[in-house]
Amino acid sequence: MTATNGIVDKLDELVNTDTGELDRRIFSDEEIFDLEMERIFGRAWLFLCHESQIPKRGDFFEAPMGRDNVLVVRQRDGGIKALVNTCTHRGNAVCRAEEGNVRNFMCTYHGWTFDLAGELVGVPGMKEFYNDELDKSKYPLRKVAQLDTYKGFVFATMDPEAPPLAEFLGRTGRIGLDQIAERGDVEVVPGIQKFVLNTNWKFPVDNTFDYYHPQITHISAQAVGMIPSAADNIDGGGAKTPEGKDLAVQRLRTDTESVVMLAEYGHAISGPTFEALVSVVPPSSRGVFAWRERPEAIAALGPVGQMVGGHPHIFPNTWITVGAQLSLRVPRSATVTEVWWFNFRNRDDTPENQRAQLQRQIHMFGPAGFLEQEDGENWSQSTLQTLGGVARDIPQLLKMGLGRGKIIHEDGVARIEAPVNEHAQLWTYLAWKEWLKRPSWEQLRDNTTPGEHL
Ligand code: FES
Ligand SMILES: [Fe+2]
Repeated sequence: MTATNGIVDKLDELVNTDTGELDRRIFSDEEIFDLEMERIFGRAWLFLCHESQIPKRGDFFEAPMGRDNVLVVRQRDGGIKALVNTCTHRGNAVCRAEEGNVRNFMCTYHGWTFDLAGELVGVPGMKEFYNDELDKSKYPLRKVAQLDTYKGFVFATMDPEAPPLAEFLGRTGRIGLDQIAERGDVEVVPGIQKFVLNTNWKFPVDNTFDYYHPQITHISAQAVGMIPSAADNIDGGGAKTPEGKDLAVQRLRTDTESVVMLAEYGHAISGPTFEALVSVVPPSSRGVFAWRERPEAIAALGPVGQMVGGHPHIFPNTWITVGAQLSLRVPRSATVTEVWWFNFRNRDDTPENQRAQLQRQIHMFGPAGFLEQEDGENWSQSTLQTLGGVARDIPQLLKMGLGRGKIIHEDGVARIEAPVNEHAQLWTYLAWKEWLKRPSWEQLRDNTTPGEHL
């Protein structure tokens, strides 16, 4: 165990869920980052890739797990293994490509070669230099502790003690993934978009639930017509709801129906209800929601899952959008985060529809996405301000709706029905604190089980 007990003892001061005040140091302190790597990313089930990315024997995709990188590899027997990308000789990465197809992995330092299952099968100079004395069976690539899939989504954990994936995800996490999986026969569009932001990873994570910022932060996206514009409405020419209300005004109204789902281990879903979401989408564009009428989707989501019109997030760093995209917020240091985007499409959709959907996806989020470029500016500035001698002493506030969230338990999901609020952000930090505090999975689950109130 690392020298972190000092921080663990201070966690209740750093994150006060009663007052909704956070210490800004949690966004830039290196010691806290080390503890996050160990106790969150070293234990949680993490999304690695989708099975459609590695359909054939020898296909691989490199994914981050904390500070480790793993090669997710399709095996000869059709199974999947995830191998830590470090040579067992002297540590070099055995694979420099981010994805591809191989017969085996040969390290470019001295040429040790590993098969698809990670077994060491080739050592140059075995006879001449090692006198045939090296036992190759002792030096396979290291594997993740557990790997499992949910409807094609591949996850792994480095912790042999972690509960099974289905239990970790729970009903709320599964509803989140169903927002993509239940669209039918889906696959990832080749080419994962990756870019770097100078931000602590928790800013993009908590922003997932922030429906307070779009009307200000995304005003330029409004100006170019990406999202409904207040100016259009003022001019009288803007889009209207079926009831004739101005869309942008509707966005700002406090009675917009929102639903917040909170779950064990820190998962959450937050944002408008599906009904509220549909009401601000012009009727001609509502075809994108047709998948929800599939009998399989209706059955998988259930009445509670069908309420979701907002953003599901699987703790610690996996976000699913309403537009069939999945994003990983990959921590690289306390103040640097890589953002990865996986865009999904239906295999049986027409090429025109697939193209149109991809255009919507990449223009919304990702390196060419309007919204995330605007968001990224805020997150970088917020991160920078956690370093100032004076600025870092000013608490971060999550007070919206504090203490007013009555939790309804139904269909295996805990939810709060409220207007725009900060309940899900607060839940995320409450869980974050518990992950750092509780080495025991049982205690972690018990302390992140929603009660009656938030
Ligand atoms: S470090 Fe890989 S072969 Fe030597
Ligand atoms: Fe945003």
